[in-house]
Amino acid sequence: MASLAAIVGLWTVQLLPSTESRDEPWKSYRLPDTLVPTYYNITLWPRLHPDAYGLFLFTGKCKVVFTCLKETDLILIHCNKLNLTSFDGHLAKLSAVGTAVAPSIQKSWMQEVTQYLVIQLKSKLRAGEHYELYTEFVGELADDLAGFYRSEYEENGEKKIVATSQMHPTHARKTFPCFDEPAMRAVFCITLIHDRGTVALSNGMEIDTTDSIHDGKPVTVTTFEPTKSMSSYLLALVVSDYTNVTSANNTLIRIWAREKAIEDGHGDYALNITGPILKFFEDYYNVSYPLSKSDQIAVPDFYFGAMENWGLVIYRETNLLYDPLTSSNANKETTATIIAHELAHMWFGNLVTLKWWNEVWLNEGFASYVSYLGADFAEPSWNVKDLIVLDDVHRAFAVDALASSHPLSSKEEDIIIPEQITEQFDTVSYSKGASVLRMLSDFLTEPIFVQGLNTYLTTFAYQNTVGEDLWNHLQSAVIETGTVLPLSVKDIMDPWVLQMGFPVVTVNTTTGQISQKHFLLDSESTFRRRSPFNYEWNVPINWMKTQVVQPRIWLLEKMAFNNNMKTNGNEWVLVNLNMTGYYRVNYDTENWERLLNQLSENHQVIPVINRAQIVDDAFNLARYNQVNAIRFACSTGVEECQNLTSIWYRQWMDQPYQNKIHPNLRSTVYCSAIATGGTEEWDFGWAMFQNATIASEANKLMSSLACAKNQTLLQRYLGYTLDPSMIRKQDASSVIVYIASNTDGQSLAWDFVRKNWPYMFTEYGVGSFNFASLISGITKTFSTEEELQQLQEFKRENSQVGFGSGTVALEQAIEKTKANIKWVSENQKEIADWLVARMA
Ligand SMILES: *[C@@H]1O[C@H](CO)[C@@H](O)[C@H](O)[C@H]1NC(C)=O
Ligand SMILES: *[C@@H]1O[C@H](CO)[C@@H](O)[C@H](O)[C@H]1NC(C)=O
Ligand SMILES: *[C@@H]1O[C@H](CO)[C@@H](O)[C@H](O)[C@H]1NC(C)=O
Ligand SMILES: *[C@@H]1O[C@H](CO)[C@@H](O)[C@H](O)[C@H]1NC(C)=O
Ligand SMILES: *[C@@H]1O[C@H](CO)[C@@H](O)[C@H](O)[C@H]1NC(C)=O
Ligand SMILES: *[C@@H]1O[C@H](CO)[C@@H](O)[C@H](O)[C@H]1NC(C)=O
Ligand SMILES: *[C@@H]1O[C@H](CO)[C@@H](O)[C@H](O)[C@H]1NC(C)=O
Ligand SMILES: *[C@@H]1O[C@H](CO)[C@@H](O)[C@H](O)[C@H]1NC(C)=O
Ligand SMILES: *[C@@H]1O[C@H](CO)[C@@H](O)[C@H](O)[C@H]1NC(C)=O
Ligand SMILES: *[C@@H]1O[C@H](CO)[C@@H](O)[C@H](O)[C@H]1NC(C)=O
Ligand SMILES: *[C@@H]1O[C@H](CO)[C@@H](O)[C@H](O)[C@H]1NC(C)=O
Repeated sequence: MASLAAIVGLWTVQLLPSTESRDEPWKSYRLPDTLVPTYYNITLWPRLHPDAYGLFLFTGKCKVVFTCLKETDLILIHCNKLNLTSFDGHLAKLSAVGTAVAPSIQKSWMQEVTQYLVIQLKSKLRAGEHYELYTEFVGELADDLAGFYRSEYEENGEKKIVATSQMHPTHARKTFPCFDEPAMRAVFCITLIHDRGTVALSNGMEIDTTDSIHDGKPVTVTTFEPTKSMSSYLLALVVSDYTNVTSANNTLIRIWAREKAIEDGHGDYALNITGPILKFFEDYYNVSYPLSKSDQIAVPDFYFGAMENWGLVIYRETNLLYDPLTSSNANKETTATIIAHELAHMWFGNLVTLKWWNEVWLNEGFASYVSYLGADFAEPSWNVKDLIVLDDVHRAFAVDALASSHPLSSKEEDIIIPEQITEQFDTVSYSKGASVLRMLSDFLTEPIFVQGLNTYLTTFAYQNTVGEDLWNHLQSAVIETGTVLPLSVKDIMDPWVLQMGFPVVTVNTTTGQISQKHFLLDSESTFRRRSPFNYEWNVPINWMKTQVVQPRIWLLEKMAFNNNMKTNGNEWVLVNLNMTGYYRVNYDTENWERLLNQLSENHQVIPVINRAQIVDDAFNLARYNQVNAIRFACSTGVEECQNLTSIWYRQWMDQPYQNKIHPNLRSTVYCSAIATGGTEEWDFGWAMFQNATIASEANKLMSSLACAKNQTLLQRYLGYTLDPSMIRKQDASSVIVYIASNTDGQSLAWDFVRKNWPYMFTEYGVGSFNFASLISGITKTFSTEEELQQLQEFKRENSQVGFGSGTVALEQAIEKTKANIKWVSENQKEIADWLVARMA
């Protein structure tokens, strides 16, 4: 799954006591080890028109065949928010398969907190026998972005409804009763009943489409090929009146979107690169694409960036669709890397699936890492691989340097309730995960990494694993190739995976001393988790000495000496070439000076990533200068720039059908023009936002509308975030954070969130607001005592309501504010002096 919302770290400090003994199995959040499913036969019928009460519903039938592993008189199966039909007073029917005899049901009920359908039997199911459980149910096709849900858009003035799904991580149970844990793999046979004229899609290929009459209504019944054995969270269902573009070279590839977007060619870029990316991964893993087709679809409302459902990947529109006329280069790059991320999961994650959510980091970190390789293959001229340093390594550093960070991997028993599972999908999992896997691949070398990966995928195809299985397969590749490592793969990796944070490696070129220390933003942070590794790491050190790359060395203790690191005269040492290591580097002053000299004299000899690193100027060195120059000039209030952007924007207002502003400049121009403009500019931007048919264009307008300086306009815009007919629920958190990023809107946004928190949290937003990014986004510049007090008060006042998936973000915000206050007070004078010196 691609998590685009820039979630700045979130982690639960244990919401619920998970170790507390619970006698009744239905009060435990984990399924017992008595039953495993093998096969589901599911029929669903989503209604794309409201019923007499204005509700959108779906009806369904589900038959699940399961095997009893251990004798039991209890069936626990996940089920949430479904109204089950009663048969003879019970919520399900049980029958036997083969030689088994089905016990009668004693009692059945819904256990809401743990989300189970509980069935107590009069006698026991027998180990080794197979049974079949049948249910019929009604659910709501709500606009809550979870399970089987409803998304809406307008085309030619007509409102259209799409039934779409997001099962991951724990929402399949909101669609049909199922064993909703990743290790409970099964084959899913899906049938969808839908209005004539609409298209139904699912993981498998459509094998039969028949018109018929159901409940007196003319419908089409589409049956899909049975899926491979897979986890419930990877199931996908979509009913829409979309069209597609398609190509078939070995695998059938289809890109689906609204009719207009497809007609205008917005699916073409995705179609162009999907074939090459699939081919890349087939070669990379040395495993054929496991399915008969690859569908990708863009829906108007989607909580995450995209979801890797096996064979039917669902995206936010902005991430899949690309319009050569209005999208920027950055949009194209995002599309390529997100497609590569999702397609990487078709093998790593879907063919082989991690057993439990405590190792989300391995699944997501891996896909994030290889997404750069896949995108690089599709677009070799972009140097996409270098972007990982900016997009992931630095992003991970920012949160992992806080004392409230957390290790990549958790204990299985600590990740139990759905909120804890959702919290796993944070920056640490994605970006630190990608960074440490990149480091691993670098010190193993890519061919050995890939060899281990291949045997891992072939050995465990259609099964579930734990992270250690991957280490073992990499270790075998190390042994087979005779590679020399100072420790086993597992021993090298454990400190990176099982303890939080990262080291700063200090090199003293006078003495040859190399040492490591846990890097913390505030070195005096009080709260500190105990670490089994004492905050030391096994650090691979790749380095160069005055232009010559040296053999890799390892820092396995707190401190070591290496004579080769000593320098004479003008020699310099550069450590962590290309930033492949997940650590920061510090040098003695002399070496810093010689490095900076080298940079100013002849920077070519220093790898570009390290140059960027050294001068902390990565973006300007890497790409689009004109854009940066304009953005900088406009944001610092240079009058010519503001006049220019206002003129361009004004021209567009005069001729709304002819937007001549260059796509790469639009965000900057819109923002600047709306900031300097008045109500008229804002209203025009809003009208264009509402009319926008291209998601990337809508996004640019949506963020630019937050640039206004007029408080009334900003206040009005904030109000829209609680009205889904104005701002889609998927975008509400972003809009509030955009407004908070504007100095004129910062306190408005904060006041708004404080005032509305109970409503947002308990009624409006469940499943739609991204509470973690909301809190971290609003508080990111907090640096005064007053703000700290407000934060603490906010925490106190809402402790009854709770913070859910924003719990840890709130703790981090408090910690970061404290660190900022301290930093400002310590550096105030220096900053003032520095500024005075520059002004003089
Ligand atoms: C699935 O169930 C339907 C009835 O609900 C039945 O018609 C169909 O044959 C079943 N399919 C399979 C593959 O068992
Ligand atoms: C489920 O049943 C409850 C209680 O009868 C009712 O309020 C609710 O609307 C029903 N939901 C659906 C989706 O039918
Ligand atoms: C998908 O695209 C193909 C090729 O353009 C076309 O033949 C097919 O009818 C399309 N399917 C739907 C449901 O639009
Ligand atoms: C089809 O795939 C083969 C091998 O992957 C490739 O060489 C060929 O160019 C592809 N053809 C088209 C039309 O894309
Ligand atoms: C897709 O590929 C075709 C054929 O190579 C090319 O003409 C077209 O410009 C490409 N479209 C996009 C959006 O990249
Ligand atoms: C890919 O796998 C095949 C066997 O399935 C093997 O013969 C071949 O050497 C492998 N290629 C690579 C590059 O590992
Ligand atoms: C650093 O990365 C560049 C490509 O970005 C590559 O050409 C170069 O060989 C790498 N240098 C080292 C020392 O790995
Ligand atoms: C490097 O070592 C010299 C000699 O021991 C010492 O004076 C200096 O402070 C050290 N510098 C750093 C950055 O550790
Ligand atoms: C910007 O526009 C204002 C109002 O039209 C004008 O007075 C001013 O001279 C312009 N400034 C520059 C630098 O062009
Ligand atoms: C701010 O916007 C409001 C609403 O459009 C408008 O009534 C008011 O005049 C504007 N204030 C200023 C100072 O432009
Ligand atoms: C906005 O959309 C409406 C309704 O679809 C249409 O009538 C109007 O012309 C559009 N305006 C612009 C400027 O695109």
